[in-house]
Amino acid sequence: MSNIGSYEDKIKNFDWSISEKELNYQDGNIINIGWYCSDRICQMGKADKLALQWEGFGGVEKKYTFNDIRLAGNTIGTFLRNLGVKNEDRVCLFMDRIPELYLSFLGVLKIGAVVQPLFSAFGDESLHVRLENAQTRAIITQKKHLSKVRRILDKLPSLEHIIIVDHYTSKPLQDKEVSLNLEKEPPVEEFNIFPTKAESPSVLHYTSGTTGQPKGVKHVHYSLISQYLTTKWVLDLQDNDIYWCTADPGWVTGTSYGIIGPWSLGITQCVLNTGFSAEAWYKFIEKYRITVWYSAPTAIRSLMKAGQEPVRNFNLSSLRHLASVGEPLNAEAVIWSEKVFGIPFLDTYWQTETGSIMITNFPGMKVKPGSMGKSFPGIISTIVDAKTFKPYNEYGKIGLIAFKPGWPAMMRTYWNNDKMFQRKFKNGWYLAGDRASIDKEDYFWFIGRDDDVINTGGHLVSPFEVESALLEHEAVSESAVVAKPDEVNMEVVKAFITLKPGYEASDDLELKIMNFIRKKLSPLAMPQEIEYMDSLPKTRSGKIMRRILHAQEWGEEIGDTSTLEDEE
Ligand code: WT7
Repeated sequence: MSNIGSYEDKIKNFDWSISEKELNYQDGNIINIGWYCSDRICQMGKADKLALQWEGFGGVEKKYTFNDIRLAGNTIGTFLRNLGVKNEDRVCLFMDRIPELYLSFLGVLKIGAVVQPLFSAFGDESLHVRLENAQTRAIITQKKHLSKVRRILDKLPSLEHIIIVDHYTSKPLQDKEVSLNLEKEPPVEEFNIFPTKAESPSVLHYTSGTTGQPKGVKHVHYSLISQYLTTKWVLDLQDNDIYWCTADPGWVTGTSYGIIGPWSLGITQCVLNTGFSAEAWYKFIEKYRITVWYSAPTAIRSLMKAGQEPVRNFNLSSLRHLASVGEPLNAEAVIWSEKVFGIPFLDTYWQTETGSIMITNFPGMKVKPGSMGKSFPGIISTIVDAKTFKPYNEYGKIGLIAFKPGWPAMMRTYWNNDKMFQRKFKNGWYLAGDRASIDKEDYFWFIGRDDDVINTGGHLVSPFEVESALLEHEAVSESAVVAKPDEVNMEVVKAFITLKPGYEASDDLELKIMNFIRKKLSPLAMPQEIEYMDSLPKTRSGKIMRRILHAQEWGEEIGDTSTLEDEE
């Protein structure tokens, strides 16, 4: 029997108080996600249950019980407090998927500070703009990422503490740097958790838009109410499950459903901190007997590419429920997973801004391959007209995905950018920035984004950020960045550039520019192809028309460019 039971029953008279009651939360109470994910689970008699089974390179394993993660959270919280870090200060987590990342997440929340997780493959520039915007006070990182922090430190006056979790040698550290070795630190039993309330800030995730710098999506502790119930009803986690979320906590899936969801339910989860290969993933599932697996379409397509042969070499019979998020899950991938694993991947749709799953397929629901499914109970979603912002009362018509504001995990604002936040609302609806249609049975069908943001393998990349970074290269005069189709990642970054006088187009220069972007921004933002142009298509007012280049890449009709010009 699934946790949700009957979807039809649950949408009738739905109220978020269902979740509040299960979490024993009442309006006005203290609510702290760090406590809910560890102390509360211990108090419920699961102190000795495994919370985390971790595996790194070379098969190194580590295991933590709920009591271990409770104590580690206290220890890290105490360490931060002793440095002078206070509630609402921003603390960046800049680590690979090592246990300290997950444990620090709890520690930072327990002192009421705001967690700012950043993808550890980010280069200096990506790191800098996000730390500057958040005025981050402390960063917890690893030796291998220290050089990136050191290079930008001078430009970040708010950054007072650099905490290194794997500095075991006696080599002296530099200014502002301290080492925190969890294995040597005495565990802290007695700890006063900061009494955060529903609206206290909790997690700050950065997301990329079409224009301007990345925006910090501000979440609050009350988001737990959504994250707990969506994990329970959609991912269907039950007491004996062994769960694996393949997302990195640098992105929202890795925190909402890679930390908060499973741990607030007292579920054992597994983390694999190695690179991707079909064999390594299947071996991991077999070894830990994973039962519920939450992944992404690009990973599934990569597994499809590896074929059925590796699947046969492993015993994957433990798997009982699969879900996916981040980008369109094509019908072929759903059908393939049904064939090889005996169960389909169920698509779920949401965003950094929504904080929790919004449109989804539930266990037991009829799956229509290629559809994202239906609204989560309590979520009022519709398709609105792109000009009037009024909901369509016609099935199958393509418009913008819109949600009635008010679910618990909804972002509260963009950090230091409330103007941009307000712009997301039209006619009383929150606009997700995606296009879709609804069918007669209320299933949503994704069409595409309503902006120029590139979704590469489930990660959003801003063309603006890449274009700006390209202009910092000595050879580049002008740049335009668009998505290019890709078999596995759906979209990859492609750049069109014109060169400054004195530079000549060559393969060597292309490689140099690619690497420049990889180091400055990240491997995800690195163009997979650079095309040299004599000039870029522009409007009369001189704005570069990305859409012409985009249409060319996707083999679409360019249409009437004079209207394109008017729109610019
Ligand atoms: C954007 C949000 C929250 C998960 C990680 C991504 C796209 C997300 C789907 C889906 C088609 C999807 C949308 C959305 N997206 N899920 N099931 N089908 N597209 O979070 O980085 O904030 O990206 O990812 O375009 O707006 P994010």
